[in-house]
Amino acid sequence: MFNFSKPEIDPKYQAGLEKQHKRGKLHAIERIQALLDPGSFTEIYSGVRHNCTEFGMGGKDIPYDGVITGFGTINGRQVAVYSQDFTLQGGSLGFLHGQKIANIIEAAVNARCPLIGINDSGGARIQEGVNALAGYGDIFYNNVRASGYIPQISIIAGSCAGGAVYSPGITDFVFTVKSISLLFVTGAKVVKAACNIDITDEALGGADVHARKSGVAHFFAETEQECFASVRRLLDFIPHYYGDNTGKDAEGRRNPAFKFNKAKRKAIGEVLPEKQSQCYDVHRIIDCLADDGGFLEVHAGFAQNVVVGFTHIAGRVTGIVANQSACLGGVLDCDASDKAARFIRYCDAFDIPLLTLADVPGFLPGPQEEQKGIIRHGAKLIYAYAEATVPKVTVILRKAYGGAYIAMCSRHLKADFVFAWESSEIAVMGADGAVQILFGKELKNGSVSLEEKKEEYRRSFMNPWTAARAGNISEVIRPEDTRDKITAAFDFLQAKKQMSGVKKKHGNIPL
Ligand code: HXC
Repeated sequence: MFNFSKPEIDPKYQAGLEKQHKRGKLHAIERIQALLDPGSFTEIYSGVRHNCTEFGMGGKDIPYDGVITGFGTINGRQVAVYSQDFTLQGGSLGFLHGQKIANIIEAAVNARCPLIGINDSGGARIQEGVNALAGYGDIFYNNVRASGYIPQISIIAGSCAGGAVYSPGITDFVFTVKSISLLFVTGAKVVKAACNIDITDEALGGADVHARKSGVAHFFAETEQECFASVRRLLDFIPHYYGDNTGKDAEGRRNPAFKFNKAKRKAIGEVLPEKQSQCYDVHRIIDCLADDGGFLEVHAGFAQNVVVGFTHIAGRVTGIVANQSACLGGVLDCDASDKAARFIRYCDAFDIPLLTLADVPGFLPGPQEEQKGIIRHGAKLIYAYAEATVPKVTVILRKAYGGAYIAMCSRHLKADFVFAWESSEIAVMGADGAVQILFGKELKNGSVSLEEKKEEYRRSFMNPWTAARAGNISEVIRPEDTRDKITAAFDFLQAKKQMSGVKKKHGNIPL
């Protein structure tokens, strides 16, 4: 529950506090206070007032035009922030409200610090007509200009409808809060009128929908306070701007005094089940490789067949992409490809080294995925890995078959090093499928035995040695040596230069 008694609130916000609390939400200023280091917030442009006279707006006072903007610190480092005040005309975005947000994005870019937007808005302020739409246009443009230069974080702390959804949609990380966040292009009433579909706002665009199904949200929190704590934690992992080396030592370690429980070195060898067909939770592998500080998972509820997130390995921030055996056997589908590709591009943009943990049976076959565009989505993953110039290290834990082997940051996509566990299988496909295709006729007429042929195929292809002999595996390793190999590889790659390739405007990622 909120603690409304502290800290002190400027009297100018008082009118809205109770109104907002009645809705079970924190007020815009309380949110800023909960997010930032105590007492660090400086407000700017608080004197802005709308100049609309249409539809009864003449003479209507909307303090700070319904959005609080300014800057402060999180864990002692600068951030820029805006927070929309739903108690003032539904947090709706008039032209000057939009200008204030566009300006704070520009200020964040100039100051090279993250931007955090706390969104709680009914969309374009209807009374201001196209002027309000112009405000959105300026925000979107600035979001795009800032992308890849400073981290942009959106907190959805109420209803976000209409134009209010696309700025979060452009930003790097979207946070939602249970029973508070609503995010949709059009709400349930419009859906009923336009499509004659009965649906609640929650089912249409609630926190759970976006964290699990649409993938719009990267983080889901039970309460607003939990959400702010999780934004602060994210900022512990990511650079505050492109090229930020603050706090790193000469080896690129943000946390040289890292701790690592050595028992995990052995434990990693016990994670894989005896049978290849059995599943396991790849979080256990990640835990065995990570420093004791843990793993911050991104998109934890969405496309769970791939796991992505940040951790420290030997004190160095590392982005992890791992197939999740425990969900659909770790197969790659449209959503998993999108999720991984976006994360890879984030890490590449902000110089975060990438560790890929591959155990992948392939791309998911079938009409549903084909019609959804698995070719287009899978292509994003391949593109993102091939394009990334940060240090890239891959560990093949178990199976790596076919196109998915190539796509999961193989040597061919210019992984700097690919390590494979001794028991791994790098092949075009599994034994069952291969034998059925190669010996279809013979199996029908009974001239060969399925089991014998499968065994023969396994002996010939289901190991890491064929790929190692061809130079596609840097080293076949024992599970217990994995962390040391990864650490040595990232140490070696510390000075890796970002190669620009041939001169062109930009590539054309299959979006
Ligand atoms: C002006 C607005 C407003 C808006 C809400 N209000 N949205 N005023 N413009 N867009 C006002 C209400 O009139 C009300 O004023 C107060 O804010 C609180 O709103 P309620 O409806 O009482 O709150 P609630 O029941 O919680 O519903 C919240 C809501 C709903 C779901 C957000 O207000 C709503 O559906 N608003 C419109 C959403 C929408 O269609 N927006 C799209 C705009 S077009 P009083 O005075 O009674 O307190 C758009 C396109 C931009 O955004 C495209 C850019 C590319």
